Amino acid sequence: MQIINIKSAIRNYTVHFSETTDFLNDLEEIKQRFYVIDSNVWEIYSSKLFANIDKTRVMVLPIHEERKNIDTVMEVYDAIMSCSAKRNLTLVSIGGGITQDITGFVASTLYRGLKWIFIPTTLLAQADSCIGSKTSLNYKNYKNLVGTFYPPNEVYLTPLFLNTLQDHDFYSGLGEVVKLHLMGGGNCVYFLSQNMDRIVERDPQYLLQAISNSLKVKLSYLEDDEFDMGKRNLLNFGHCFGHALETTSKFTIPHGQAVLIGILFANIVSRNRGLLTPEVFDELRQNLLEPNIMMRPTETDMDVDSIYTAMKMDKKRTNEGLVLVMMFGDYGMCKVEDMSYNELEQANAELIKLMMNEK
Ligand SMILES: NC(=O)c1ccc[n+]([C@@H]2O[C@H](COP(=O)([O-])OP(=O)(O)OC[C@H]3O[C@@H](n4cnc5c(N)ncnc54)[C@H](O)[C@@H]3O)[C@@H](O)[C@H]2O)c1
Repeated sequence: MQIINIKSAIRNYTVHFSETTDFLNDLEEIKQRFYVIDSNVWEIYSSKLFANIDKTRVMVLPIHEERKNIDTVMEVYDAIMSCSAKRNLTLVSIGGGITQDITGFVASTLYRGLKWIFIPTTLLAQADSCIGSKTSLNYKNYKNLVGTFYPPNEVYLTPLFLNTLQDHDFYSGLGEVVKLHLMGGGNCVYFLSQNMDRIVERDPQYLLQAISNSLKVKLSYLEDDEFDMGKRNLLNFGHCFGHALETTSKFTIPHGQAVLIGILFANIVSRNRGLLTPEVFDELRQNLLEPNIMMRPTETDMDVDSIYTAMKMDKKRTNEGLVLVMMFGDYGMCKVEDMSYNELEQANAELIKLMMNEK
């Protein structure tokens, strides 16, 4: 089994990559264990994969973005405490990013920190969120406002889970995979352009490679900046415009898809500033970005004034200008804080034309 060891100021941990689900049997050897499993994952896999696990130690958790809050955390506390859990409990969570955020928060707070194993079952959670130590809850209308830094002790992942993901969720995860490969430079971009067909067919071997590449690139940006004070900001590539588009589209565009559209936007600005050649811009647009944008925004979603208002809300913004993470030259990354309204208007107009073209 391939592994990646991750250094963290909180605790070092390991991501295990597997082509099978055999690791699930080993979890049953843990004496004090409690599982929290996404209800959709439970429904699909309970008879096949979870048939042998002790059902008295399982909480099946219905998840939804609206449930990623402190009330659901309390439901999990109650379920764990109802089986007389002590500090030596190992929490095993199985699901996507929402399950990770809720159970990670539980693990970091109950008894001031439980042992925690995470088994990500979505592409987004496998290729991106499972490393980085963040746990986040929504508070009222504020997304991810409350949270902690608390990595799992172990992550076990297998692409076999991804066969049952709905397209909407698969392509959302794929957006982050494309982003991380672009940030990884020439070899990663080459791998992705050559193998995109196999990845979208969900070939496990190629998915595993794409997930492993993505995590290694993310890791290179987390190094020395686990607590998000500088370099880690660059992982927001595609997110500055992407978050604004999620808001203006009332979240009808899934996160990873908004990120891909956000990368296209950032590349337009970068090309307009002379930081990206027209050739590289076109190659990335034609080969990696446009073919993987499956959910397109409407013209109303891309109304320039609404996007401007949303981009002004960026948490990282300290100056008058707008913040944008951009690519330059040979896969270099930088963050600017001086994007003007006029620059936004010009790039947004070009993006609207690209998005309105029939595929
Ligand atoms: N903590 C972090 O560092 C971090 C990073 C990025 C995103 N996030 C958070 O992650 C969340 C999004 O995560 P996500 O995209 O994984 O979504 P998710 O957890 O909502 O899962 C998406 C859907 O897929 C279903 N599902 C999960 N595994 C499945 C499987 N194997 N087969 C079929 N269906 C399955 C879920 O029930 C859900 O309906 C957001 O709340 C976001 O804020 C957290």
